[in-house]
Amino acid sequence: MERLSISLQEELRQEVARRRTFAIISHPDAGKTTLTEKLLLYGGAIRLAGTVKGRKAAKFATSDWMEIEKQRGISVTSSVMQFDYKGHRVNILDTPGHQDFSEDTYRTLTAADSAVMLIDCAKGVEAQTKKLFQVCRKRGIPIFTFINKLDREGRDPFDLLEEIENVLGIRSVPMNWPIGMGKQFCGVYDRVKTRVELFDHAGDHSEIRVREVSGFEDPIIREIAGDHLADQLRDEMALIDVAGDPFDLDKVLAGELTPVFFGSAINNFGVQTFLENFLRLAPAPTPRNSTDGLIEPTNESFSGYVFKIQANMNPAHRDRLAFLRIVSGKFERGMSVRHVRAGKDIKLSQPQQFLAQDRDIIDTAYPGDIVGLFDPGIFRIGDSLCRTGRTLEFNELPTFSPELFSKVSIKNALKQKQFLKGIDQLTEEGTIQVFKTAGFEELVLGVVGQLQFEVLDYRMKHEYGVEIQLQRLPFQFARWLVGDKIDPSKFRINSQLVKDKKDNFVALFENEYAMRTAMEKNPDLQFLETAP
Ligand code: G4P
Repeated sequence: MERLSISLQEELRQEVARRRTFAIISHPDAGKTTLTEKLLLYGGAIRLAGTVKGRKAAKFATSDWMEIEKQRGISVTSSVMQFDYKGHRVNILDTPGHQDFSEDTYRTLTAADSAVMLIDCAKGVEAQTKKLFQVCRKRGIPIFTFINKLDREGRDPFDLLEEIENVLGIRSVPMNWPIGMGKQFCGVYDRVKTRVELFDHAGDHSEIRVREVSGFEDPIIREIAGDHLADQLRDEMALIDVAGDPFDLDKVLAGELTPVFFGSAINNFGVQTFLENFLRLAPAPTPRNSTDGLIEPTNESFSGYVFKIQANMNPAHRDRLAFLRIVSGKFERGMSVRHVRAGKDIKLSQPQQFLAQDRDIIDTAYPGDIVGLFDPGIFRIGDSLCRTGRTLEFNELPTFSPELFSKVSIKNALKQKQFLKGIDQLTEEGTIQVFKTAGFEELVLGVVGQLQFEVLDYRMKHEYGVEIQLQRLPFQFARWLVGDKIDPSKFRINSQLVKDKKDNFVALFENEYAMRTAMEKNPDLQFLETAP
């Protein structure tokens, strides 16, 4: 009843304030699946069919499903999971990893308001974490770090923090600190609540077990951990107090300082503490830039943008789903909205929400939420939707510099027309970036992940009836050239000049040395990572 009486403004204010939308960034095997599952469990998550009982079985099922998806030529899901916890509504954006890495992974990050960086304590900062971190960094979103697998021998915690600072260039502030590690691991000292959270090698940690202490020098810690570990904790904490960065929420929110938590996801240890601190510190849905200026989430006028399109998620239908991040206003099933690029009004009658692999039809959603829209082929990545009568457009989706390149040709020359149509549409969807060689008009494709080539190959065959041949090229970098005089003869060594769809010159380089040489030879040109 109360709901009926509050104004839309107040409803939006409340719904926005309680939402958190984030992505987990990590290298494969750091424990993302495990952490996600534990987080969902705290939410008492709604229908996790299969996933709760046995992780192994669940993992098998998931990868099986992915295999099927892959065979169907689909870019593997960045699905969205939602749960409620102590009044908060949490949206986790899943970023596919490893061989499934693609531009989709990057784009998904644009829909997040913060990120959780998951690190394996034995491995430290790994390649994929670094790449994903850089995308988050560019957006300036807050990053929270969870250092995982403390139940195993890992690297010295100071080493790990130093690596985060040196390799990623972000300052860190430990919120808790491990007491021992591996076989000796007996818990973490919680700097926020001044207490020790106890690790039990045989326990399940579904309830947090703690000992209140007066500080890191409290004799109780000796009782718990023995003299050696207690001394070590005292020395380490004293050093951090003196030499470490102090906690500073403004810096956290500006993405300059990452709060660090230690734990063990598989043992459900430290996960709840992490979640509670994260919910307390992470931002609610943030405004986005548009052609009408900054759009605040509490703006009553509905708006959002498509950050991902996924083909054939449901094998029973050949449908596509467009993933929409809601930026402002209230989403209601059946509402009419303006599809700004297409210049027409459409009705959103089949919105879907995601939980693990299930799909639900939803009736309402708010800023920060992601809804999947049934897409009969009308959406493109980057499309904006807004209240009818308005025309604002978001410009949230940068293109990313491709890192893998292939020449593409068709096996049957008679299929040229379908081939070009397919390439055109898949370029628009964002599956690939396309270039032409300057002299011979051959097509060169650029992607950020190998999976994108596989998806292209599959979809060309099954959707356009065209068999293609891909020939990998040795290039690793693309730079858009801006300047008055571009002299092709200055791009001959370990490089090639091509043109993008808008006829911009783009130089492809085999290595950094070739790129640097070209920059030195062409001091009047600008070398941009993405299209100007
Ligand atoms: P990912 O999604 O990031 O790729 O990682 P995932 O959760 O699948 O975890 C990778 C491996 O790390 C799994 O082991 C998982 O059990 C293990 N793991 C996750 N968190 C912890 C932790 O806190 N401590 C320890 N010791 N291991 C952890 P696996 O052998 O590949 O799979 P499984 O046989 O355990 O299912």
